[in-house]
Amino acid sequence: MKAYHLNGQAGVGGLVLADVSTPEPASGEVRIRVEAASLNYRDLMILDRVGQGGLNGRIPLSDGAGVVDAIGSDVVQWNVGDRVAASFFRDWVSGPFRASYVPSALGGNTADGMLGEYVVLPAIALVAVPAHLTSVEAATLPCAGVTAWHGLIARGGMGKGDTLLVQGTGGVALFGLQFATALGARAIVISSSDEKLARAKALGGSILINYRDTPDWDAALMKATDGEGASHILELGGPGTYDRSLRSVASGGKIVQIGVLTGFGPKPDLARLQWENADIIGVTVGSVEHFTAMNRFLTDKAIHPIVDRVYGFDQAREAFAYLRTGAHFGKIVVKL
Ligand SMILES: NC(=O)c1ccc[n+]([C@@H]2O[C@H](COP(=O)([O-])OP(=O)(O)OC[C@H]3O[C@@H](n4cnc5c(N)ncnc54)[C@H](OP(=O)(O)O)[C@@H]3O)[C@@H](O)[C@H]2O)c1
Repeated sequence: MKAYHLNGQAGVGGLVLADVSTPEPASGEVRIRVEAASLNYRDLMILDRVGQGGLNGRIPLSDGAGVVDAIGSDVVQWNVGDRVAASFFRDWVSGPFRASYVPSALGGNTADGMLGEYVVLPAIALVAVPAHLTSVEAATLPCAGVTAWHGLIARGGMGKGDTLLVQGTGGVALFGLQFATALGARAIVISSSDEKLARAKALGGSILINYRDTPDWDAALMKATDGEGASHILELGGPGTYDRSLRSVASGGKIVQIGVLTGFGPKPDLARLQWENADIIGVTVGSVEHFTAMNRFLTDKAIHPIVDRVYGFDQAREAFAYLRTGAHFGKIVVKL
């Protein structure tokens, strides 16, 4: 089969298409013919850190969807021809997170990802693709979709009457926006681009702030919500946004701490949390159980993920280069 490998060089030059042997499923495992794989901000970080070692030879991208092509013995839940997607953490099936799941993150240091024609995974690490979604759409779900679901709904309990703040218009942010709209929650979107804000409005965003023109977007948010703030915040920026998120959270609100778009290790002044009886929810993607619950919701609400561009398998480097520009609105997908 053909698969992309990270060859140890940092940047897109380190992404190399190679001929490798097609993996065979062992007992309890399933082979998937990958139809589409999607990119996340994480994949860019992995690509750029490659030169520092560890990832040599690994197949990148955590996210993909396809069709069951072969099954090993003792697999009862899947048949050849089933449409499936893989969970981000191969080993996190249900229950609370454990540090021992970290090495099973697909497309990382220790587990191959989805940017190849076939992948073999444990049967319990898969979910059925919702019938209303194409494989291109389903490939966007495992990291960005499940992260937003886990933080906002499974842990955050977001619902009708809540107010969500999303930062930017990338993958996680737009899943959050779509979930809020479907639940009858109000959504606030901040973005670098008026054109993207207009598109976010069409998805249900009701308070729209350009953070380039309005760097004090937290003050603008408070004014637009009559001093109430946001009950739920998808904190995607990290050090560059965290203090403004803390100043934007409503009484009793929840900051879902997810992102590192401006770097690692925010050093926030947490005093306001206590006065507002607000919480921080730390999130690392989610489990098969979260993924399955999200898929039920996507089906009930007939939600289609927002796909910005689809690249061919031979254009994977272009897909990474486009992600790096930050020009995308929603998800970038490679179709096999
Ligand atoms: N903890 C976890 O498990 C987890 C899971 C998934 C993602 N993440 C993290 O969450 C973040 C988002 O991931 P993603 O894959 O959704 O990214 P993405 O699709 O690449 O989205 C990037 C977008 O974020 C916006 N942005 C950039 N800097 C910003 C800033 N200073 N303030 C507000 N918005 C800003 C921009 O949108 P505009 O052009 O509209 O401004 C940019 O296009 C990343 O840091 C990623 O590593 C963490």
